[in-house]
Amino acid sequence: MILERTNLPNLTQIQTDFGQFAPPELRTDLSKFISYYQLCQSAVNEVGTKLENLDSDYQIHNAHNPIHHMEARLKDVRSLLHKLEKKGLPLQFSSVQQNIYDIGGIRVITNYQDDVYTVADNLLAQSDITLLRQKDYIKAPKPSGYRSLHLVVSVPVFQASGVKDAPVEIQIRTVGMDMWASLEHKLRYKTNVPADRVARYAQQLQGYADDLDKIESNMQAIFHDLEDES
Ligand code: GTP
Ligand code: MG
Repeated sequence: MILERTNLPNLTQIQTDFGQFAPPELRTDLSKFISYYQLCQSAVNEVGTKLENLDSDYQIHNAHNPIHHMEARLKDVRSLLHKLEKKGLPLQFSSVQQNIYDIGGIRVITNYQDDVYTVADNLLAQSDITLLRQKDYIKAPKPSGYRSLHLVVSVPVFQASGVKDAPVEIQIRTVGMDMWASLEHKLRYKTNVPADRVARYAQQLQGYADDLDKIESNMQAIFHDLEDES
């Protein structure tokens, strides 16, 4: 299993984007931002390696590998600035350090619903991983119908100057939940579709989220049944 490092901008790109998009008051903190992005990128690499190691362990020792595939990304500068604005936070480095936990993100797509919790438990059991936040949108889906388990973990990163802890947001969801979230995300960011159609699609998607949940749960039951037989 290979961790797809999708949209992982390099630090030169981050630097260029800050120069282009950040308001002047933020640009004075540029070197702090770059160092923090680099720290978060290392944290994604650390957690990504842990997940890849779990994946190869499952592959060798489990009849069933819970992991379907994984993706990693760094938040781009424009979405970071947008998020600070949306949250009404002052445009300064300390706002990011204290409030934004998803500069580094990893998505783990699992085969079945139970697999979500297997992966989460196996990762969180590791002694150098600290759970900072957990939101279970599978047990309590969002009004949109969105389902996923969100974890924010902190991991130590060993740098030349010493060890620093950095956060990584991990979204764990099934293939069905991921398929749903991709389409709903597309709908959310479509600006050229008339509002009544958006509302209709959103309502349909709400229903499909429940349908998918039932289908995935029933398919998991068949899968477990077949496993018991073999
Ligand atoms: P923000 O990151 O500022 O949104 O706050 P938060 O971390 O409290 O938010 P949340 O726990 O809702 O997680 C945010 C991320 O989850 C988003 O960036 C999306 O990737 C995903 N997400 C949350 N809700 C939805 C939804 O309704 N639809 C889709 N497609 N994705 C969602
Ligand atoms: Mg978030």
